[in-house]
Amino acid sequence: MGRVIAVSNQKGGVGKTTTAVNLSACLANDGNRTLLIDIDPQANATSGCEAGIDNLDGSVYEVLLGHAPLEAVISSTGIPGLDLAPSRISLAGAEVEMSSVLGREKRLAEALETVRPDYDFIIVDCPPSLGLLTVNALTAADSVLIPVQCEYYALEGLSKLLNSIQLVQRYLNPTLEIEGVLLTMYDERLQLSKRVAAEVKSYFNDKVYETAIKRNVSLAAAPSFGQPVILYEPRSTGADNYRRLAGEVSHARAAALV
Ligand SMILES: Nc1ncnc2c1ncn2[C@@H]1O[C@H](COP(=O)(O)OP(=O)(O)OP(=O)(O)O)[C@@H](O)[C@H]1O
Ligand SMILES: [Mg+2]
Repeated sequence: MGRVIAVSNQKGGVGKTTTAVNLSACLANDGNRTLLIDIDPQANATSGCEAGIDNLDGSVYEVLLGHAPLEAVISSTGIPGLDLAPSRISLAGAEVEMSSVLGREKRLAEALETVRPDYDFIIVDCPPSLGLLTVNALTAADSVLIPVQCEYYALEGLSKLLNSIQLVQRYLNPTLEIEGVLLTMYDERLQLSKRVAAEVKSYFNDKVYETAIKRNVSLAAAPSFGQPVILYEPRSTGADNYRRLAGEVSHARAAALV
């Protein structure tokens, strides 16, 4: 059964999509059957790995509204072993359209049931909000991976996310866990980065990954070529950082299964 990991933080621009795309690509590259689900109407994860995809049939929008099964919208990508369930701007309307639908928080969880056995990891890229789309991701997920940008106000708003996680645990998904907390855009030359890292570690302790993702130009440039960084610039620091993160994530999974 695939482990479903939601990449979430309602703060914008902290590295959710960069992490979802590149962690997925590295997990697949290590031989894990991996599905990346883009549940953000901005569709950045979709465009971040669309090189090598001929045409996309439908999107997660049709799946959430019950117009198509998840299998029908999944396509393979330029990375062997990595599949994508794409988003489209139409997903922006889904929150409103779903608001009166019965079982609206569980649409993604239900849709995932049939495809879960086909994957080792299913990574969900969430939008920067705690609305119904994110609630669907948290309800479907086994765990949440929280990227935290090493910047001013990094921890601000995290209590809101933790509160949402608790509410989902109480009412919708009692077994939801925190997979890990990832420091992103880390710059070792800056005192600020070190200070934020220390603060995050004192709060989340051993939930913080040993790998911090450094600020790296290849990570910022890769999406404009529709490629994960391990294809675009395999020898970059960014590629190296995400390969290490994938190692930590797989290792935790293997340890939990013993
Ligand atoms: N480690 C990094 N080094 C350099 N640039 C980065 C890094 N991580 C992310 N970026 C860049 O920062 C911007 C925001 O990253 P990203 O899109 O991954 O954040 P996000 O949390 O998904 O944003 P949103 O909340 O809008 O969905 C992007 O332009 C991305 O290319
Ligand atoms: Mg994003």
